Amino acid sequence: MKDSKKFAVIGSPIKHSLSPKIHQIFASKLGIEISYQALPIEPEEFEASVEKLFDEGYDGLNVTLPLKELAYRYADKQTQESEMCKSVNTLWKEGSSIMADSTDGRGLLKDLDDKRVDVLDKEIVILGAGGSAKAIIPSILKASPKRITICNRTLSKAEMLAKEYVSLKIPIEIIAMTSEPDLRPDLVINTTSAGVLNQGLEIPNNLFTTDTCVYDLSYSRIETPFLQMAKKFGVKRSYDGLGMLVNQAALSFAIWTKLVPETDIAKDDIL
Ligand code: ATR
Repeated sequence: MKDSKKFAVIGSPIKHSLSPKIHQIFASKLGIEISYQALPIEPEEFEASVEKLFDEGYDGLNVTLPLKELAYRYADKQTQESEMCKSVNTLWKEGSSIMADSTDGRGLLKDLDDKRVDVLDKEIVILGAGGSAKAIIPSILKASPKRITICNRTLSKAEMLAKEYVSLKIPIEIIAMTSEPDLRPDLVINTTSAGVLNQGLEIPNNLFTTDTCVYDLSYSRIETPFLQMAKKFGVKRSYDGLGMLVNQAALSFAIWTKLVPETDIAKDDIL
């Protein structure tokens, strides 16, 4: 019989993934032993590799870029949330079925809740309309904001995304990065990869008020370029995405082990 559970994160590139470290911290705080590896897998080898890993006794897999949509399509059963965003970051087996869930959005909402950032009835702006935006919108909709406005450089992508999530109850609008809307958002969430790519991000001039809370899905040891910019606009409450990273990992960990790990981890212990 196996004495410790076995997990891995798969994707490409994968070398810099923080998931092995985070999951080991969860396990050690709970006093259990696990193994958690980072395995480089390319899209063309995805199906055969996942099958092999589960055959070898892996208890759960995290899936990252560029495999999240492939994993969604490959799974036998998907949760309602992953049905909405059509990409997943967590796989496990129940009997002979491959199960799939997307924990990114719930991870973000949990982190916002921990930080006492309200979403209910709030004016939310999402910058970016790529995979990350798509992954978090179902959870944000579920938390009943007043309105979501998607702001993207390529407006057609924002339009497509808004159409996918058209909701009778909650308005979803789109605006261009170069527009000057009178929104006064309560919360601005940056999902663009501009910072990661070391590129400048042109945003609407009047986007922030001093009362706007700003959340950047990116994270780094020093303040992210987006949060630095927000502060220059006078924003007082700003957070990077490390808390979301930890919380989405905790949700995967809980699915696999049925144990709820402690998520209050110091930045220095992870980065
Ligand atoms: P991810 O999965 O990380 O969301 P993605 O699907 O490639 O990555 O999406 C990247 C997002 O960042 C897109 O919304 C992209 O805008 P476009 O749709 O116009 O390409 C946005 N983005 C990336 N670099 C940007 C930049 N320098 N300025 C503005 N938006 C940028």
